[in-house]
Amino acid sequence: MFNLAQSSTTETKPELYRELLGELTALVEGERDPVANMANTAALLFHRLPALNWAGFYRLIGDGLLLGPFQGKPACIRIPIGKGVCGTAVAQRTSIVVPDVNAFPGHIACDSASRSELVVPLIQDGRITGVLDLDSPERARFDEDDRRGCEQLAAILMKACAPL
Ligand code: SME
Repeated sequence: MFNLAQSSTTETKPELYRELLGELTALVEGERDPVANMANTAALLFHRLPALNWAGFYRLIGDGLLLGPFQGKPACIRIPIGKGVCGTAVAQRTSIVVPDVNAFPGHIACDSASRSELVVPLIQDGRITGVLDLDSPERARFDEDDRRGCEQLAAILMKACAPL
């Protein structure tokens, strides 16, 4: 059985992400179902990354994003490509760090507590299959360490999963 580690207050962000990469690798080992693996990934990140109020996934289904496994308050179900931070990350095929969601034109507010956000596209065999979305009640919660770390976590998740 997987035991959720405790975050130490003294470790650096790169150290925390190094640990999370190992923990996620162990968590998805032997399972190829994307929804099950996304559910455990959302739980891992929500409980191990400090100062989050939402952690989860939107899957690219048809011509839009559809809410997937997450931890946090109920969220908007469908996001068109090009809309919000999530839809913009898909349209631009890039991760987006938003220090202040109120300053991002078209930001979709699912939880009014959210102040900053990080969205990372999920890429499988060169195709975008969805996004990982993290929200924080703190302004400027996410930086380049988070972007790099979450892109590596997303790559591990996508490698483990059968095509959506
Ligand atoms: N803020 C996102 C919507 C999803 S929620 O944050 C969970 C966006 O602007 O795309």
